[in-house]
Amino acid sequence: MIRHIVVVGSGVMGRGIAYVSAVGGFETTLIDVKEEQLKSAKNEISSIFEQGIDRGKITNSEKQEAEARLRYSTNLIEAVREADLVIEAVPEKLEIKKQVFETIDHHAPASCYFATNTSTMSPTEIASFTQRPEKVIAMHFFNPVHKMKLVEIVRGLETSDETADVIQKVAQQMGKETVVVNEFPGFVTSRISALVGNEAFYMLQEGVGTPEEIDKAIKLGLNYPMGPFELADLVGLDTRLNNLKYLYEKLGEKYRPAPLLEQYVKAGRLGRKTGKGVYDYTDKE
Ligand SMILES: NC(=O)c1ccc[n+]([C@@H]2O[C@H](COP(=O)([O-])OP(=O)(O)OC[C@H]3O[C@@H](n4cnc5c(N)ncnc54)[C@H](O)[C@@H]3O)[C@@H](O)[C@H]2O)c1
Repeated sequence: MIRHIVVVGSGVMGRGIAYVSAVGGFETTLIDVKEEQLKSAKNEISSIFEQGIDRGKITNSEKQEAEARLRYSTNLIEAVREADLVIEAVPEKLEIKKQVFETIDHHAPASCYFATNTSTMSPTEIASFTQRPEKVIAMHFFNPVHKMKLVEIVRGLETSDETADVIQKVAQQMGKETVVVNEFPGFVTSRISALVGNEAFYMLQEGVGTPEEIDKAIKLGLNYPMGPFELADLVGLDTRLNNLKYLYEKLGEKYRPAPLLEQYVKAGRLGRKTGKGVYDYTDKE
C-alpha cells in the first residue's frame, strides 16, 4: 500500500505533482537541491490551494489536512528511507536522472516503487540505473498538473504487471485519468506535441506569421485549447528543446530542433518561469 510519496525536483512539474499527491491523501515530501526552488514551490502550492477554495474544488478543512501532509526538504537520502513511491521530476537530462535513480535505489526500501515524469526518455533505460527494474515505470503528468486530467503511464521492458497496477491506482487516487502505453521515445503525447511545437518555431523563423497569428490560427482553426507558443512558454523552452534533442537523436530528422528555439534558450528566454519566452510576461505577473 502506498502511503508516503517522495517527489524529486520542485520545478514546474514537481510542485504540481506534490500538490495532487497531498490532496489525494498521500504523505508527500517534495525535494530539491535548491532551497529557493522549494520556497517558490511552497508559495505556488499555497496559491493553488487558494484558487481551489475560491473555485469550490476543495474545502478549507481539506486544504488544511492536505497541507499537513506536505513536507519540503533538500535531504533526498533521508526522505526516501521511508518512501513507498518516489516520483522523479528533475530536468530532462539523462545524467541527472541517472544520478537520482542510483541514489534512491541505494537508500529506499526494497519495496519502494520508482516513477519518472520524463516526457520522452526510456523508462527501460532509467530502470537500468537501479537493481529493481520491475518496480520502475514512467508516470507522465501534464502541465499544469492540478488542472490536466491525464497521466500517461509508460511501461518499460521489465516493468511488472503489479507495478503498472499500483501506479494506475495511485494516479486515480490523485484524481487523474490514465492510459497505459508501451515504451517508445516520446510515448504518445510528447511525440505529437514536440512535432507541432517545433513546426511552429520553424514557421516563426520563416516569417509565416507573428506568434499571435500562429497561435490564433491553431486555436480557432484546429480547435486546440492553447496555441503552440502559449504552450511552449508554459512548458519551458529549455524543457521543450531537451525533449526535441532526445527525439532527434532517437527518431531522426523530423525532430531536428528549430534554430530559433535554440536561440531563445541561449538568450535565457525560457518562458513563463523566467518572465519571458516567445511572449513577455514581465508586466502581467
Ligand atoms: N514542463 C512541462 O510542461 C513538463 C510536462 C511533462 C513532463 N515534464 C518533464 O518533467 C521533468 C521536470 O521538468 P520541469 O519542467 O518541472 O523542470 P524544471 O526545470 O522546472 O524543474 C526541475 C527541478 O529539479 C531540480 N533539480 C535538479 N537536479 C536535481 C537533483 N539532482 N535532485 C533534486 N532536484 C533537482 C531543479 O532545481 C528544479 O527545481 C522533465 O523530465 C520534463 O521533461 C515537463
